[in-house]
Amino acid sequence: MPLFNKDPKTAAPETPRLDEHFKHIAFIMDGNGRWAKKRGMPREYGHKVGSATFKKICIYCCDVGFKAVTVYAFSTENWKRPKAEVDAIMGILDSYLEELKRDYGQYHNRFRFIGDLSVLTPALREKITYVETLNQEYDQILNIALNYGGRAEITHAFNTLAAEGKTAVTEEDISNALYTVESGDPDMIVRTGGDLRISNFLLWQAAYAELYFTDKLWPDLTPEDVDEMIRDFYSRKRRYGGL
Ligand code: IPE
Ligand code: IPE
Ligand code: MG
Repeated sequence: MPLFNKDPKTAAPETPRLDEHFKHIAFIMDGNGRWAKKRGMPREYGHKVGSATFKKICIYCCDVGFKAVTVYAFSTENWKRPKAEVDAIMGILDSYLEELKRDYGQYHNRFRFIGDLSVLTPALREKITYVETLNQEYDQILNIALNYGGRAEITHAFNTLAAEGKTAVTEEDISNALYTVESGDPDMIVRTGGDLRISNFLLWQAAYAELYFTDKLWPDLTPEDVDEMIRDFYSRKRRYGGL
């Protein structure tokens, strides 16, 4: 049973409740391959189990009241992996989209796929376009970053602004031209898998994000771990350069 409890009558007193300071959490879902290897299984198996973790964690984050959840599913650099692994990840994506088409009612959020989707197959793109029309009655947003790179996103934003004829831009113009325009900047970026880097994720949006690293491999992440992230967030003091 997760420790976090949004019911104020029964919530443990030491468990902070989400408020306007913590609206958006982002995850670098890393460690699927190592998780599988530790079990003598192919990396693809780790991605399959990781996708189940992804669903569980996203639903939990939405339940506890995050207004936006952003997950890094496939980077612009991940194409460097062996074709069999890339194909397996795209297959998992396809099954996930099929599942969403059937079971979207389990989710209380809208879906956004962020990144350069132009390189995906027409069949995947068609499913993504459809899934993005679902659950419009909800405010909460789940951003799934696919063929996403922070540098590519910023470059895309500049090209969009240039095409609009802008010759000088403001920070606000750039933020509004990013894929995350609807959900804004993450308050916390979590990376599982033990590596201490950002790997080209949300470079612009990360300016003042709290960073949280855990050695846990992504498939092992639980709702209780999210509770711990929430507690950790509320123990920090964000100064934004002030005092
Ligand atoms: C993250 O897990 C998922 C993707 C990058 C698609 P990895 O596949 O990077 O797993 P490790 O880091 O090799 O264990
Ligand atoms: C980051 O993980 C990308 C995703 C989780 C989708 P990687 O495993 O690709 O990152 P590096 O290669 O360790 O930096
Ligand atoms: Mg990795």
